[in-house]
Amino acid sequence: MIIVGSVREGRFGPVVATWVAEQAREHGGFDIDVVDLADVEVPLSMPAVSPRFAGDSYPRPAGMASLTSHLQDADAFIVVTPEYNHSYPASLKAAIDWHFTQWRAKPVAFVSYGGAAGGRHAVLHLENVLTELHAVTIRDGLAFPNYFRAWEDGRPLDPEASGFAKTLLDQLAWWAAALRAARNSVPYPA
Ligand SMILES: Cc1cc2nc3c(=O)[nH]c(=O)nc-3n(C[C@H](O)[C@H](O)[C@H](O)COP(=O)(O)O)c2cc1C
Repeated sequence: MIIVGSVREGRFGPVVATWVAEQAREHGGFDIDVVDLADVEVPLSMPAVSPRFAGDSYPRPAGMASLTSHLQDADAFIVVTPEYNHSYPASLKAAIDWHFTQWRAKPVAFVSYGGAAGGRHAVLHLENVLTELHAVTIRDGLAFPNYFRAWEDGRPLDPEASGFAKTLLDQLAWWAAALRAARNSVPYPA
């Protein structure tokens, strides 16, 4: 599952996500779903109880159902994120917070973009947050500094970008298979 994290008007996120999906298709190890948070109802106001304790009965809005079932069914995630004020967008935080078990014992890889830091501040925060949800974050992320100069016609100019994407996808596929087998054989102890 590839998640487009930004919902801003005129955002660049879908350009990156489309290229990432193409890389994943060429990799051949994945069935790919792209979910754009701009198409999802993700309110900031949440029910009183945490989704951690509410399980399947958690009262989510109807416009979030598709996101929830995609998260539930996915064996692996790629989060495509920009950097907003040295972190990641509120849209992404809200989408994460409305869920809990859907992330558990599953791998998450990151493709980021931004100014000088290439969105890495956002990724550091995401790694921290997703660890709290018992997700496993993939070390080799893909970052695009100064993305406004580094992309042309929907593709990165760096000829090595596809190679870096393959490394990320290889690691993600390895973790996805390992963690799916583990989830299926022994209940996760939390
Ligand atoms: C509210 C806001 C804060 C931003 N803060 C940062 C920042 O801290 N670091 C950075 O590299 N870029 C920052 N930017 C620039 C974004 O990286 C750039 O606008 C990028 O296109 C945002 O992704 P999007 O187009 O998918 O929304 C910020 C942009 C916005 C809208």
